[in-house]
Amino acid sequence: MNSIPNAQPMANTFFPLFLFFLLFHFPSLSPAKLQLNFYSNSCPQAEAIVRSVMHKAFIREPRSVASVMRFQFHDCFVNGCDASMLLDDTPTMLGEKLSLANINSLRSYEVVDEVKETLEKVCPGIVSCADIIIMASRDAVFLTGGPDWPVELGRLDSLTASQEDSDQIMPSPRANATSLIDLFSKYNLSVKDLVALSGSHSIGKGRCFSIMFRLYNQSGTGRPDPAIEPRFREELFKRCPHGVDENVTLNLDSTPYVFDNQYFKDLVGGRGLLNSDETLYTFGETRKYVRFFSKNQSAFFDAFVEGMSKMGDLQSGRPGEVRRNCRVVNGQSVII
Ligand code: HEM
Repeated sequence: MNSIPNAQPMANTFFPLFLFFLLFHFPSLSPAKLQLNFYSNSCPQAEAIVRSVMHKAFIREPRSVASVMRFQFHDCFVNGCDASMLLDDTPTMLGEKLSLANINSLRSYEVVDEVKETLEKVCPGIVSCADIIIMASRDAVFLTGGPDWPVELGRLDSLTASQEDSDQIMPSPRANATSLIDLFSKYNLSVKDLVALSGSHSIGKGRCFSIMFRLYNQSGTGRPDPAIEPRFREELFKRCPHGVDENVTLNLDSTPYVFDNQYFKDLVGGRGLLNSDETLYTFGETRKYVRFFSKNQSAFFDAFVEGMSKMGDLQSGRPGEVRRNCRVVNGQSVII
């Protein structure tokens, strides 16, 4: 057997120690390679645990799973799927929780905490928060009646977060189809992906805050968006009158606890809640997909799974780690 001559006994003794130190004290420096069944040896129960905690959350508060599903979009678009949006602010870092798109809007962070705590008891330090978001989003769709699909895992959690990046990237509910097509194309997501992924608004709710301009001053006209169907418009006026508490919530489609293609049927009927939803029907390039998905639920499901998988592949290539607590980087103390 060939062995390396024992010329440097000190190095021989310390090299394995040094390697151990590198592996366990420094985060990975290259993009993680994602694969199916990533935890099958290191934490075989991981996917079942995520699903069971999500199921409990769904029973406790049906909307919470939609709120968690939204995390995948807000995580993956801002510097890749790295759970940066779960980090709490620190004295030296303004995180993403208070960014324009997230403040008073993203919710149900505690469901991810519960998943993480359960996983840490069974396989400490193994399952990343970034992977939890991906699994939990898939489970939210399945638990509300949508498709189920295998997800590739092995992501690492970021060491930092950026409110500024989130502010610059995340689209407004006022966005029109052209700007959304443009944004999604930067992530190699097609027009079809955009429309299919917007179908996530088949579950969950939005606030009056997100539609006030649309109801009372669309494009500075002092009038409502003419694309809103008149009876629906009256309903919205009643729910969101001038001076209302803008945190009052409304359903994003008419079946907010069921993942189905009703969202697209609603858009065809002029009953989309957000401007960024209805614009997909009023704009020619996206309209054909809205029509198609409104008539063919299984085509919507297939396109949605494809879009979620593509979005789930986004990675920044920055260093990462597996956080012990999704809200804080390892080694930093928890601020209460
Ligand atoms: C296409 C651009 C998109 C825009 C402009 C947008 C915007 C919004 C807005 C404004 C809300 C309501 C927030 C509030 O009023 O507090 C919302 C809710 C939601 N969004 Fe999106 N969204 C987009 C795409 C997506 C994507 C791609 C996903 C997931 C794959 C997603 C998932 C959700 C879910 C599930 C909710 C409901 C959350 C809850 O009930 O707590 N959205 N979105």
